[in-house]
Amino acid sequence: MAGLMDGRAGLVTGAAGGIGRATAIAFGREGAAVVVNDLEDRRDDGDETVRLVEAAGGRAAFVAGDVRRAADHEALVGAVVDAYGRLDFAHNNAGVELSETLADTTEAQWDLIMDVNLKGVWLGLRAQMTQMAAQGGGGAIVNTASLAGLIGAPALGAYVASKHGVNGLTKTAAIEGAPHEIRVNAVCPAAIATAMILQQPYERRQELASPQALKRFGRPEEVADAVVWLCSDRASFVTGTAMPIDAGSTAGIVLPGEVT
Ligand SMILES: NC(=O)c1ccc[n+]([C@@H]2O[C@H](COP(=O)([O-])OP(=O)(O)OC[C@H]3O[C@@H](n4cnc5c(N)ncnc54)[C@H](O)[C@@H]3O)[C@@H](O)[C@H]2O)c1
Repeated sequence: MAGLMDGRAGLVTGAAGGIGRATAIAFGREGAAVVVNDLEDRRDDGDETVRLVEAAGGRAAFVAGDVRRAADHEALVGAVVDAYGRLDFAHNNAGVELSETLADTTEAQWDLIMDVNLKGVWLGLRAQMTQMAAQGGGGAIVNTASLAGLIGAPALGAYVASKHGVNGLTKTAAIEGAPHEIRVNAVCPAAIATAMILQQPYERRQELASPQALKRFGRPEEVADAVVWLCSDRASFVTGTAMPIDAGSTAGIVLPGEVT
């Protein structure tokens, strides 16, 4: 059966685990070739993602790189083009979290969150959109924002600011990309069961998930399916959106209850 992404090639940042790994696997299952990126010290986990993409039916290679560095984005895009001929899609997904009040956030912590979550996405968009515009034929990019890109949250100020920034960048990128048929969207997940959430103490996990009407943590695959759809031709008229994948968190007043 034909896959949604047959013959397409692209990249996923922050794909050594969590949402990025699930997305890379989902792209592979739909017939794509994927360059899997993460930090050098996550190489073993990145190689495991490659193995899982191949097992799902796709082609893949791991390329280490730090999304804070422009040269690493150029190298990532270059790796996709060298290996597979063109860049059809990109998922700017790498991110870091900080649970700290505004008063207790240090400048170094602020800078790290902004550099990875916001500058990292801008540098990715710049490299990817330049390549897509030059090669012609359009392309699709998805940025991982967050529910924290749509609403505020206690002890999450730097992260909230960075993810609101990602949604702003996404809208502008969609407008600038449109003449080249490059679509750019964001996904805004609520609490998903990855290292980022699971490493938090029980009370903090409950706090972060408290806006959710569905009282369970999401699975990375539930975000991955939306990312693949947004990158596919099925979403050909969708650009500039910040899609909530949020278990009803932005639907309205939510009843209290334990999230499991
Ligand atoms: N888990 C959630 O509840 C949740 C909710 C909303 C949004 N998000 C966002 O989803 C994305 C993926 O997070 P996750 O939940 O899978 O957590 P995760 O920690 O498993 O994944 C993040 C990945 O990014 C990588 N990374 C960090 N800094 C990097 C850098 N400078 N260069 C390259 N890679 C880097 C990490 O090594 C890691 O593999 C993040 O942007 C996160 O903010 C997560």
